Amino acid sequence: MPTVENSAPVLAIDGPSGTGKGTIAGRVAGHLGWHTLDSGALYRAIAYVAVENDITPDDTLELENLTRTIAVEFVHTADGLNIWLDGRDITDHVRSESGGKRASIYAKIPVVRDGLLSRQRQMRTAPGLVADGRDMGTVVFPDAFLKVFLDASASVRAHRRYNQLKAKGFDVKLRALEREIADRDAQDRSRTVSPLIPAGDAIVLDTSEKGIGQVFAEVRKLVEDRLASGQDYLGQV
Ligand code: DC
Repeated sequence: MPTVENSAPVLAIDGPSGTGKGTIAGRVAGHLGWHTLDSGALYRAIAYVAVENDITPDDTLELENLTRTIAVEFVHTADGLNIWLDGRDITDHVRSESGGKRASIYAKIPVVRDGLLSRQRQMRTAPGLVADGRDMGTVVFPDAFLKVFLDASASVRAHRRYNQLKAKGFDVKLRALEREIADRDAQDRSRTVSPLIPAGDAIVLDTSEKGIGQVFAEVRKLVEDRLASGQDYLGQV
């Protein structure tokens, strides 16, 4: 029987940084009229607050408490998703590349991942959820009706990220960014809990040679074909 937590369909979009996951998730959600979950933003916010409060990665008690109590809010704006914490807009602090690096370090810690599980699953509400991250299809929503894993070559991803950060006004250097992205990927792929890996039933799309419009069209087609196949995607956990 479907329960509150598995009663709406989920589209899981996973992959490393710079593959366009967030943009695709936002566009597909807009097209379907579904909710979005930017799970990376949650990890970025936790890491930001942890560092601000001198909570080190080995302080599991404090991290468990922080993960349970943190009051993060997501606000949709014309520029994308803004992240608010206790009445403060912390978007610029967490969206930087150093914010990603910090998030990747705290995301390795099991109490942080466990603590965020139910928070993420609670966002699964009707009519549906498009969730993007690293472990949406493998751990958080293993019964997602469709799992897409977006990938691209490291150099293409670094260029995309560079353009994205520049457009947002961040001062970035391409070479340094390439190194940081490679380090972050290695860390996300090699961790013992919920490593970045495609789910066995994920459809892997290499976006290196594709524009965002083409990737959106391909993902939309996958979604529509899957939904039209008439299977019951609810309550399969
Ligand atoms: O998607 P992003 O670049 O905003 O994610 C930032 C970091 O957060 C990423 O390097 C690893 C971590 N993360 C994670 O471990 N699991 C997720 N589902 C999402 C992000």
